[in-house]
Amino acid sequence: MGGKYATETLDADEGGIARAVHILRDGGLVAVPTETVYGLAARADSDTAVARIYEAKGRPSFNPLIVHVASLEQAREFAEFPPAAQRLAREYWPGPLTLVLPRHRGARLAPAVTAGLETLALRMPAHPVMRALLERTGFPLAAPSANRSGFISPTSPAHVLASLDGRIDAVLDGGECERGLESTIAAVRADGSVEVLRPGPIALGPSAEGPGRIEAPGQLASHYAPGKPVRLMASEVAPDEFWIGFGEHPGECTLSASGDLTEAAARLYACLHEGARSDKPRIAVAPIPDEGIGIAINDRLRRAATPVD
Ligand code: TXA
Ligand code: MG
Repeated sequence: MGGKYATETLDADEGGIARAVHILRDGGLVAVPTETVYGLAARADSDTAVARIYEAKGRPSFNPLIVHVASLEQAREFAEFPPAAQRLAREYWPGPLTLVLPRHRGARLAPAVTAGLETLALRMPAHPVMRALLERTGFPLAAPSANRSGFISPTSPAHVLASLDGRIDAVLDGGECERGLESTIAAVRADGSVEVLRPGPIALGPSAEGPGRIEAPGQLASHYAPGKPVRLMASEVAPDEFWIGFGEHPGECTLSASGDLTEAAARLYACLHEGARSDKPRIAVAPIPDEGIGIAINDRLRRAATPVD
């Protein structure tokens, strides 16, 4: 890929984790496994480290980052926790839930992390490797998904290298991500109201707002894009289409033969990556029920199908 850096692949053992901690302390970039997708981690308290995340991803500077913490106690250093936020954190942390909260001014965070907003996105991840990094470094880690901006999110080290090889210092190999879709993002406002900004693995009840209202700065219409046209709700396929199947519609890559939505979520990005790599110039995706985590799958698919303008 010819980037500036010789990207190391590290095993997620004692030695690999120690090396990752060392790189992060020095302000470097390490792609790390989480239970959702691979994150591109850097210390959140360093201006230069955070600047490197935006540079490596080609991410617009107006799109803020999620800050990952080791504990609720550490999270409280950075933001206010209204009672509704405390309840959500107690129930779902560690896990695939990001809380957008009123941020504390003067907390030790690089300003670029929040892109000038009065709120901060915080998550306590569950993955043991990511938790080990957070505990050993002692500082919070800013980590967007480890892909070039707008491209398909990564659920394996190979996916990370497909778009960031040569642009980051290392990838820590924790195998495939269990959930396969990014965290649910919920904003808790100062008045205690809760708004779902991005659907994900945790279903926070039927949102009064509905999908039409979902918006986070980074929730651009086109995202997760494989670089070729994507057709949705395809119950049959043309010869020049790579078919992503589900249930009664088996494809060249099948999300779940048994129609299991949890399995489909875990395989979604792997199938999109395969479709992107395939010789076929177009991708077609079988219908996915719009219920449970299917809502988050269809949210990602709609963005993958929206042409970049
Ligand atoms: O599962 C995940 O959330 C993964 C793993 C690595 O933790 N991270 C992830 O980060 O998906 P990213 O940067 O790809 O998506 C974060 C989203 C973006 O759409 C961003 O705009 C939004 O969170 N966001 C960040 N801070 C925000 C804020 N203060 N208010 C509203 N949205 C915010
Ligand atoms: Mg992303």
